[in-house]
Amino acid sequence: MGFPSTWSIFSLILLSVLGQDYETSYSDYETEEEVLPEVPSFVVPQETDAHVFLPNECAKECHCPQSYPYAMYCDHRKLKAVPDVPSHISHLYVQFNDIEAITAKPFSNATSLRNINLSHNKLKKVEKDVFGKLQQLTQLHLEHNDLEEVPPSLPQTLQILHLGFNKISKIPSNTLQGLLNISVLDLCSNRLTDGGLKGKVLSGLKSLVQVNMCNNKLKTMPSDLPASLLQLSLENNSITSIPEGYFGKTPKIMSIRMSNNKMNTIPYKTFNLSRLIELNLGYNQLSQPFFVPKNLEHLYLNHNNYKGM
Ligand SMILES: *[C@@H]1O[C@H](CO)[C@@H](O)[C@H](O)[C@H]1NC(C)=O
Ligand SMILES: *[C@@H]1O[C@H](CO)[C@@H](O)[C@H](O)[C@H]1NC(C)=O
Ligand SMILES: *[C@@H]1O[C@H](CO)[C@@H](O)[C@H](O)[C@H]1NC(C)=O
Ligand SMILES: *[C@@H]1O[C@H](CO)[C@@H](O)[C@H](O)[C@H]1NC(C)=O
Ligand SMILES: *[C@@H]1O[C@H](CO)[C@@H](O)[C@H](O)[C@H]1NC(C)=O
Repeated sequence: MGFPSTWSIFSLILLSVLGQDYETSYSDYETEEEVLPEVPSFVVPQETDAHVFLPNECAKECHCPQSYPYAMYCDHRKLKAVPDVPSHISHLYVQFNDIEAITAKPFSNATSLRNINLSHNKLKKVEKDVFGKLQQLTQLHLEHNDLEEVPPSLPQTLQILHLGFNKISKIPSNTLQGLLNISVLDLCSNRLTDGGLKGKVLSGLKSLVQVNMCNNKLKTMPSDLPASLLQLSLENNSITSIPEGYFGKTPKIMSIRMSNNKMNTIPYKTFNLSRLIELNLGYNQLSQPFFVPKNLEHLYLNHNNYKGM
């Protein structure tokens, strides 16, 4: 294979450090990608008696299937603007267009919107009050755009926010404040720096279970994670260390992904976390043993500096 097996690295740590029973099958550690625990599901649109009075309304640029009248499909149409959204539409698909700017106008009647997919556009900036008035909005997909900041005034109903593959370098401390129902925040493949995450950015978000900040420019661990967190993705940054007791503030965490960073030492007790299931530390510069909790099912330590590998 050209690289030392994870099995032998693992057994080294097991023998020299743990001294506790470890009953999981070793073959697990060879596989690369594993399915993570499901995040809590979000609200599916309630098909009420709306069909009784449902208008045939649909923006002329889009398609509204009769079989699923709550959805409006406007994707892959070279659109430069979001079409007017009728009031009964709950799912809006506008991905893969050429939209550079959004105004509040097309959304002025869109009181039923729950899910917007605006991924793969050319958005640079979202004006204040575009999404803020959508009081049913739970999912917002803005990945693969040119955004330099998180859209302002997001509605408090939001549960899932995808902002991957943009140009976001900082998140001012009040930006996400008030999103008390947000559970998934994806910021992978942006330009986040340590300085851009200063202050109270995430700790007030008491429903947040998954934070993805892979492929950014972080050199230290984000300092402000909420206690509700279950999954943390920080692959492909330049993080050199984890502060002593760092995960004490996220005691429920189940998955930590930190491959492709620059860590060489980790405080011995860092991962003494009773619910930890997955720990990926491949492609770092680790050489010292550390504590591994008994419940851990997936440990990746390939491409580090453990002796004898
Ligand atoms: C909102 O609804 C009103 C009344 O049906 C209509 O005249 C207007 O054009 C709609 N505006 C948008 C932006 O859809
Ligand atoms: C949004 O569009 C992207 C690109 O087509 C797709 O990968 C993604 O699954 C869509 N998500 C939702 C929730 O519609
Ligand atoms: C947040 O979620 C709770 C529980 O699902 C719900 O009762 C509440 O209305 C939501 N709040 C907002 C602002 O959406
Ligand atoms: C990390 O970067 C490599 C190389 O650019 C890429 O192949 C991999 O998908 C990235 N990992 C994540 C989790 O994005
Ligand atoms: C891990 O944490 C538990 C409970 O918090 C504690 O009893 C135990 O001594 C710790 N183990 C190590 C190796 O720190």
